[in-house]
Amino acid sequence: MRSMTRHFLTDLDLGPEELDRVLNLAAWMKQRPYAVKALAGPQTAAVIFDKTSTRTRFSFSAGIAALGGHPEVINPGDSQLGHKESIADTAGVLERVVSLIIWRTYAQSGLEEMAEHSQVPVINALTDDYHPCQLLADLLTVREHKGRLSGLKLAYLGDAANNMANSYLLAGANAGMDVRVAGPQGHLPQERIIRAAEDRAAVTGGKVTVTTDPDTALGGADVVATDTWISMGQEDQKSQRMTLFGDYQLNARSLSQADENAVVLHCLPAYRGAEITAEVLDGPQSVVWDEAENRLHAQKALMAWLLVESGLADETTAQLVREGEQR
Ligand code: CP
Ligand code: NVA
Repeated sequence: MRSMTRHFLTDLDLGPEELDRVLNLAAWMKQRPYAVKALAGPQTAAVIFDKTSTRTRFSFSAGIAALGGHPEVINPGDSQLGHKESIADTAGVLERVVSLIIWRTYAQSGLEEMAEHSQVPVINALTDDYHPCQLLADLLTVREHKGRLSGLKLAYLGDAANNMANSYLLAGANAGMDVRVAGPQGHLPQERIIRAAEDRAAVTGGKVTVTTDPDTALGGADVVATDTWISMGQEDQKSQRMTLFGDYQLNARSLSQADENAVVLHCLPAYRGAEITAEVLDGPQSVVWDEAENRLHAQKALMAWLLVESGLADETTAQLVREGEQR
């Protein structure tokens, strides 16, 4: 691997101070949507989907275009990757042709293998284990509404063993938040994820709680989040899952346990009447549309920042990124 290349494969691939810089840059670039031309040329970014997408696809496509580049979007089943050609050989070709590789796939190990063989930055656009780009957008949104991250109480309810739960634990701990994750027994985060979050929280002053009691997670929370009970790839378990998580629905009663000024996050797509009621999703505490828009701003900042840190951006871009990342 090219020693300088920076990838973004999990939420912990940014150190706490780096996370702060990327979020500063995102806020700065949001005010100046076309100022940073990190992909001028236009350079091409590969955006590859093994699972379907709306937000990730459009936010990366729009973001790459706004950075002066060209997004080459590959839909599920459209490339040789994974069935006719190995990940390593694919990386060997792509790194010669494109400036960034953005990949939504199943196994985290596949993404890691791509990064191992790529001299251009590889970005996780969702795996079975993590959704770190979503968390950059979520943290940017919380910062906009609450003015800070460190010390805030963040509660996540529902399928606590999925990619969003893992990313809330890691990214929340990285931002110095008091993260509480609640789900039923058997659907809680793996020990290795909890330990990684606790280790990071020990550095940032954050806190990590994993519980089966939704009210313990919700008590006084400043931010309340949930996600679908049926993640991509779990469609055959739909009927069991619709009853399994019933006690963890985000509704008016559960939200009333949180702080009265709590904001509600949902990465979307949402299933009204399942993990969240329409009353809450469409209610005054919901910031889900800001959150969806912030995918664009956060990912633009991330792409520019990774290119600069990897020594793959021109001097003008590097100067703008250095200016924008200061708070
Ligand atoms: N939140 C999110 O990643 O949405 P998509 O699956 O539509 O990309
Ligand atoms: N947990 C969900 C997130 C979708 C953005 C899934 O993996 O399908």
